[in-house]
Amino acid sequence: MKPSIGSELDGIRLIRKLGEGATGIVFYGERENLPLAVKVLSPGLTNEPLIEQRFKREAAVLSKLSHPNVVAIKGASIEGQFAYIAMEYVEGDPLSAEIRSKAPAAAFCVHVMRAVMSAAAHAHEYGVIHRDIKPTNILLENSEDELPRVVVADFGLAKLLSLDEFGEDQTLTRRGRIVGTPAYMAPEQVSGISIGPSADVYSLGILMFELISGRRPFEHKRRRDMLRAHLFERPPALSAMPEVRLHSELEKWIERALEKEPADRFEDAGAMLEAFEALDPKALQFTVAGRNAEQEPAKSVSVEISAAERAEALKKKTKNPVPITSRAWVRGLVWAAGFGLLSAVAAIAGYSTTLR
Ligand SMILES: Nc1ncnc2c1ncn2[C@@H]1O[C@H](COP(=O)(O)OP(=O)(O)OP(=O)(O)O)[C@@H](O)[C@H]1O
Ligand SMILES: [Mg+2]
Repeated sequence: MKPSIGSELDGIRLIRKLGEGATGIVFYGERENLPLAVKVLSPGLTNEPLIEQRFKREAAVLSKLSHPNVVAIKGASIEGQFAYIAMEYVEGDPLSAEIRSKAPAAAFCVHVMRAVMSAAAHAHEYGVIHRDIKPTNILLENSEDELPRVVVADFGLAKLLSLDEFGEDQTLTRRGRIVGTPAYMAPEQVSGISIGPSADVYSLGILMFELISGRRPFEHKRRRDMLRAHLFERPPALSAMPEVRLHSELEKWIERALEKEPADRFEDAGAMLEAFEALDPKALQFTVAGRNAEQEPAKSVSVEISAAERAEALKKKTKNPVPITSRAWVRGLVWAAGFGLLSAVAAIAGYSTTLR
């Protein structure tokens, strides 16, 4: 039976539809008069060999998360063709709606970033990687206070929906299909290497970039170009944008989060938050760029990306490539070569002086 308004799922009455994303439909529901948000996953995604045991195992890990900025999981199950997750209901709008047409204040951006980093840091401590941090997954609870409670939804959901089987070399097998949002995906997610918490650090960097500038570092229309940009393109410099004014320490902090090599980024959200709190307090008083309400917001839905599509993105080069010297290992090589050359010059100089 297809879950619909009025029907019941495991004792939860589905009352109205809250919204629909690429991964499923979210309903407002009640169990014993307690409000819940119920995400029913699209059958197209679940009737793949989505192994019941695996779904339950992942869901059990997610239900262990308990943090004021993480949407609490209240249960998960598979009923026939449909898998669903019952969550804490958050009354309010997603961050995407809040920032669509108006420029948020710097204090609001800082409040959101702190909350989302704390949520991710908590999950990272439990070994959970979000994999899909983006404004539609950040909910702002209505409140009388000046700043809303910020709650992050869909932790680990992208993993639950992916068929991310890894071979011995920690690279996705040919069958491997991943779920994610191209505009926010870390390079290693695109290339299909096993990912760590620093993949969330990258998405958090994109989020901060977007909050400040009103645009994302990469805004390609075609999905393949977007995937390729994360791998090979250098993000535009925020300080070069006339409408943005920010402290160099904050710019460097964002650049570090957006490094192509995971090892060059903050290790996890906890380290990123720590570095954020250590910034010069003046760095948190930036000028946020205005939004262009006419501009069609770039797509930010999560999609399935096949192994073939990722392989294609890896092959192609781009018009605005990252200078090869920014790759960690090449940098090491350049340093070593430079050092070798200097030593040789010094040796020759020393030798010729002794000869005199
Ligand atoms: N726990 C929740 N409480 C209240 N509303 C929620 C909750 N979880 C999701 N929603 C709402 O349901 C809608 C659909 O969410 P869903 O996660 O399916 O899509 P999305 O995040 O917009 O896109 P995507 O499928 O790409 O993740 C969103 O507008 C969101 O605001
Ligand atoms: Mg979502």
